[in-house]
Amino acid sequence: MTRPEQVAENIALVREKLRQARRVVVLTGAGVSAESGVPTFRGAGGMWRTYRATDLATPEAFTKNPQLVWEFYNYRREVLHPLQPNAAHKALAALEKRCQHFVLLTQNIDGLHQAAGSRAVLELHGNIWWVRCTGCGLKAEDRRVPIPFPPHCDACGGMLRPDVVWFGESLDSGVLHRAYTTLEECDLMLVIGTSGVVQPAASMGLYAQQHGAFVVEINLEPTPYSRAFDVSLLGKAGKLVPQLVKEPI
Ligand code: OAD
Repeated sequence: MTRPEQVAENIALVREKLRQARRVVVLTGAGVSAESGVPTFRGAGGMWRTYRATDLATPEAFTKNPQLVWEFYNYRREVLHPLQPNAAHKALAALEKRCQHFVLLTQNIDGLHQAAGSRAVLELHGNIWWVRCTGCGLKAEDRRVPIPFPPHCDACGGMLRPDVVWFGESLDSGVLHRAYTTLEECDLMLVIGTSGVVQPAASMGLYAQQHGAFVVEINLEPTPYSRAFDVSLLGKAGKLVPQLVKEPI
């Protein structure tokens, strides 16, 4: 249990580091969107407790039963489309405006960072509001809810799939390259609302730390990395992130 004065000291320390930092990187996971009403994947109420990821979020599942996979993604679109960015998303968008060099890496596919005003966003796992043709690879934004089945590519007639990364698939190599470059160059990194179990995102905090960054974790509960990082702040992102970045910094 951390003493309240220790929490206040840690917040003051992170604010000072943010003031000094020249290059800031943020990595977010499902926890940053939880207070907007987006279900997380693990823990109480986590999505993977209700659905088996291997039945729904793998290329094999899509080959076997594309309709079922599209039903799942249409359901997720229905859940997501009325949701709004929360105080953590907004605070990160405000932080970006103040930083000379800022990159936000997110594992989330919900688009809420961009809705809050974040611009320098690298989506490691894709975006649920985009589709990709399984034939010609063309990508397009498609905000229909639901997308009627079977969805076809306007260009080649091929079957469309959600433009997200499924289990067993590689992340986009261009996105990964840019992510690692920013991790190597940053001097401060915030790791917010991720359980740290899905690679390669899980080890990005350590990677930045090994390259000299001061790494701060913000999570409701400890993760496998909490002790390794420089500071671990336990609590809700919607409360802590605005405290860290509120002006004057
Ligand atoms: P998880 O569901 O694994 O973890 C969510 C984390 O957020 C947990 O550590 C929670 O303790 C924390 N959390 C929950 N509410 C919070 C709050 N209000 N404030 C701060 N922290 C909070 O989600 P991810 O780590 O993002 O991948 O999962 C990683 C990947 O696994 C996802 O991108 C997805 C999933 O399978 C793919 O679909 C490829």
